[in-house]
Amino acid sequence: MACIHTYGCQQNVADSEKIKGYLHLAGFDFTDNAEDADLILFNTCAIREHAEDRVFGNVGALKNIKRRHPSVTIALCGCMMEQKVVADRIYKSYPFVNLVFGTHAISRFPELFYNQLVNGRRIFDTCDDNAIYEDVPTLRDKQFKGWLPVMYGCDNFCSYCIVPYVRGRERSRSSEAVIAEARAMIEAGYKEITLLGQNVNSYGKGLDEDITFSELLRRIDAIEGDYILRFMTSHPKDCTHELIDTIAESKHISKHLHLPFQSGSSKILKAMNRRYTREKYLSIIDYAKSKIPDVSLTSDIIVGFPGETYEDFCETLSLIKEVEFISLFTFIYSRRPGTPAAELPDVVTEEEKGKWFTELLKTQEEIAAGRCKSMVGSTERVLVEEINEKNGLLSCRTSGNIIVEVQADDSLIGTFQNVRITEARNWILRGEVI
Ligand code: SAH
Ligand code: SF4
Ligand code: F3S
Repeated sequence: MACIHTYGCQQNVADSEKIKGYLHLAGFDFTDNAEDADLILFNTCAIREHAEDRVFGNVGALKNIKRRHPSVTIALCGCMMEQKVVADRIYKSYPFVNLVFGTHAISRFPELFYNQLVNGRRIFDTCDDNAIYEDVPTLRDKQFKGWLPVMYGCDNFCSYCIVPYVRGRERSRSSEAVIAEARAMIEAGYKEITLLGQNVNSYGKGLDEDITFSELLRRIDAIEGDYILRFMTSHPKDCTHELIDTIAESKHISKHLHLPFQSGSSKILKAMNRRYTREKYLSIIDYAKSKIPDVSLTSDIIVGFPGETYEDFCETLSLIKEVEFISLFTFIYSRRPGTPAAELPDVVTEEEKGKWFTELLKTQEEIAAGRCKSMVGSTERVLVEEINEKNGLLSCRTSGNIIVEVQADDSLIGTFQNVRITEARNWILRGEVI
């Protein structure tokens, strides 16, 4: 039995699905209970300090399990392990950890695990070879919606961000490999495919073939079938009119654009090395709204970047009011040693940043509530995803990525249904299957 715990973003989820694919082929079953496991593996995230602290705490707690079951293999992988200071700390202070490997070593996992079992020695493999993995078995968590990585790594070096250091240089999979995988998923009955990359808009850079992300989308969209196509993440600096036109004209692409702006202040955007201004961002949004009726917009925001003043923060507030995002992923800036922003003076207190953060959440709650209320009475085509264990309702997702809860039989999970929206509960809708 293997107990796999995944932290962080969808990229890590997709990597864990590959590790599970290998383990499944080797005859492993999976458990959520670490006590029952022969292999405990944490796939870690380094994006914020808090994420790292959680992992260190949870790894520390494995010491007792190892004492009770000395034969269990304890393995750590993912973005944290690509930082030398972290791997060194694990090596010195957590001697019960048997295997450590980085984001570049996924396709070597079977060999590493086997060697660890046979030799019993600790193995640390965190070399940086910018691999692209093809022909790796994938055991997806769900049978009707799944992630499909189209590219790995990131070359953008936003000044706050650790990802380019732990995921290596940007590299795209061939369109042939991506399209073949999409086709296989659709034939296997998948109803939702999400193309993944840190900056999907620069897909194709460095490939022998001459292809843009929009062209890749069009070729997948041309595959026959009843499915919805999503993608993330788009970087505003590379978000073209061609991409928006492609969404507007497509048959399968969701009417949703996740376009992180991070800050509403051009001064802070420059310090973040984002390479677009507030005005450029707003002009993309205007174009998207004009071309895609009812487009649903979401974004990521960082509050309290070094040098940000309350006036800068107010520009973020005014931007979210102007755009009217359906939902936001909001973060308080976290200093990541090794990134350029970590060297900048940061004078605003955590308490003050916390107040700004609360103000941001409150403002967004009002916007989302207004957006959701305006949908009451409309009919939406949704994908039924899962039971909400708390209230027994089925949780469904609209094309615009909004959750609708309905009372219905769980045999509908994994199917598309038409739902009449009857009620808005802040950012979640309630409805009835028609
Ligand atoms: N590639 C994606 C984002 C990946 S990280 C993009 O560029 O949009 C997801 C989000 O985490 C980022 O959009 C950012 O909002 C947040 N984030 C990244 N580094 C951070 C840091 N040091 N502190 C706080 N939030 C951070
Ligand atoms: Fe990080 Fe920027 Fe790359 Fe996104 S685009 S992963 S925020 S460096
Ligand atoms: Fe975290 Fe790595 Fe993703 S740092 S957010 S798991 S790319």
